[in-house]
Amino acid sequence: MFRSLVPLALVAALAGCAPAVNAEIPVPVQSGQEEATPTPEPKPTPTFDPTVFSIDEASSLWVVADKLRPLNPEKYKPAELVTLKLPHRYDPTMSSNAAGSYAVMYAAAKADGVKLVIQSAYRSYNNQVGVYNGWVRKLGQEKADLQSARPGYSEHQTGLSVDIAAGNGKCTIAECFADTPEGKWLTEHAWEYGWILRYPEGLTHITGYKYEPWHWRYVGRGLAAEMHKTPNITLEEFFGLPPAPDYAN
Ligand code: DAL
Ligand code: ZN
Repeated sequence: MFRSLVPLALVAALAGCAPAVNAEIPVPVQSGQEEATPTPEPKPTPTFDPTVFSIDEASSLWVVADKLRPLNPEKYKPAELVTLKLPHRYDPTMSSNAAGSYAVMYAAAKADGVKLVIQSAYRSYNNQVGVYNGWVRKLGQEKADLQSARPGYSEHQTGLSVDIAAGNGKCTIAECFADTPEGKWLTEHAWEYGWILRYPEGLTHITGYKYEPWHWRYVGRGLAAEMHKTPNITLEEFFGLPPAPDYAN
């Protein structure tokens, strides 16, 4: 049974000691007449749409370049390049979106006491000619092809990739970079800023390249977060592309 409060309110009002209308006075509801609690609408589970950006266009945030997917055109140059004023060994230039994100990531790492250094970022087609030929001279073509892309096939040419070194220079472009504070920080946090490890360990048969714990690729926060759900997944696997261990020619 409910208890009617109206008479009490009336008495109080007549006594001049209470406002006639008081929001705190509940309006009684007849038993059995309670308003039904509305059933919440089921919220649709947000699904990731892997078709939002092209994986074919050289200028696309999600472009997939590998030994079977050369850049088109092969001498592609990004329209908006930004040169960062941050610690670096070689030209600290990147595509503008990657550069913006790198600057935020650099600051976050610094706040955690970790000093990221840009070893190499955007490389033009002609730069890549020099880099690749240098490795071929040093290692021979077969070994060079496992760690350096041929001109027209490198992610560095998109401005979306950066090789990162440690503040003290230890393990630069070496597998032990993964065990440095910088390497560990990146493994834990880079995805939060939209970066993925492009050449994970033991996946040469898919990526075509040796493990490169220093090579980070900007894909944006949405895709990086989605890929982070599957440790070490490659762009080839994520987008259902064929493995690219070797060049077609
Ligand atoms: N080191 C990577 C594969 C490049 O040269 O783009
Ligand atoms: Zn690289």
